[in-house]
Amino acid sequence: MKKTGVIGAGTMGSGIAQVAAMGGCEVVLWDANTEFLQKAFEKLKTTLHQLVEKGKITEDQRLGIQTRLKIGTGIQDFAGCDLVIEAIVENRDIKAGVFRDLENVVGDDCILATNTSSLSIASLAAACRRPERFLGIHFFNPAPVMALVEIVPAVQTSEAVLSEATREIKSWGKITVQAKDTPGFIVNRVARPFYGEALRIYDEGIADMATIDHAMKTLGGFRMGPFELMDFIGNDINYTVTETVFQSFFCDPRYTPSFTQKRMMEAGYLGRKTGRGFYHYDDQASKPEPNQDPRIHQQIFNRILVMLINEAADAVLYGIASEADVDLAMTKAVNYPKGLLQWGKEMGFAQVVAQLDELFGFYHEPRYRASAWLRRNS
Ligand code: NAI
Repeated sequence: MKKTGVIGAGTMGSGIAQVAAMGGCEVVLWDANTEFLQKAFEKLKTTLHQLVEKGKITEDQRLGIQTRLKIGTGIQDFAGCDLVIEAIVENRDIKAGVFRDLENVVGDDCILATNTSSLSIASLAAACRRPERFLGIHFFNPAPVMALVEIVPAVQTSEAVLSEATREIKSWGKITVQAKDTPGFIVNRVARPFYGEALRIYDEGIADMATIDHAMKTLGGFRMGPFELMDFIGNDINYTVTETVFQSFFCDPRYTPSFTQKRMMEAGYLGRKTGRGFYHYDDQASKPEPNQDPRIHQQIFNRILVMLINEAADAVLYGIASEADVDLAMTKAVNYPKGLLQWGKEMGFAQVVAQLDELFGFYHEPRYRASAWLRRNS
């Protein structure tokens, strides 16, 4: 197992440090904010005790993990690391500065990785003296719970670094998929229509939120409906991801954000964390009743599902990931009940294309154009 460094002890960094230490690594966790760092370390210790209480690990294992997990006092403590994963604020210039400082400390063989969700891996690699040792290792929140990790080589990344990093993350018990360095990688790109098409259906007045959520849960088997999920993630975070993906794709209209969600964010109706989002979360709040018309349910479900399948197909068309990895990513990172391409295969790709063509024929918007991959495979 490798000596691993983690920079940033926020939500993601502390989770990644826990995963690495539980995977058998010596771990150094450091954060520029010493108060945050101390708090994160105390919280990690509590989490490990809770894992013992729940019977997930033994007391001996807890002791071992805790001994392997140390906090640093500065960037110099990453000297001797074989792998350093950065999980600091989502800002290209700040991250680039940290990697430049790191390269003055670590050895030539140390692999450097970023957990960024939205920045270009190539642009961060370019900040390094040795860009071939750099790649994206993208965990999902909470890192100790979510099985999937997206491995994202930059154009500069060497094959040896890619395979070494993948092997290491697998040895921590994670499922890895390989994604091309494009906005949203696999999951944050392919999932966009789940929210975007639901918001579009709502904005057009075809159905209300409760009906859309109900349709996706009962017909699709999704654990949460789109509006419940946006409230859970937080409208600020979910909106920002959509807007970033939209901007990064040179304003491709497929990813156009919704004013409805933007206004929710601006109003501070962020979701569960503020007690109000699309739904109300105080004790007395009653949940709105869905419309019971099964034809509406079917229409909503079909429309969102074909848009999701279309996005998955485009990801394969453009070589973002293999068919198998796209399906694995959506089932393991966001718990979709079935892989989207598998779903499309079962429906028949010709049927998916027919439904998309019908939407395109009605709206005449590029948003609804069927992926060439679907046409080729139907
Ligand atoms: P966070 O805000 O919880 O934690 C960031 C930490 O970095 C803070 O403790 C801060 O003090 C520290 N920091 C900031 N600048 C620093 C510097 N120059 N040197 C050292 N430490 C510094 O952020 P979070 O949510 O953990 O995100 C971290 C990274 O992970 C971001 O790149 C984000 O895009 C990515 N990410 C976040 C996910 C999420 O659901 N929160 C999911 C997957 C990736």
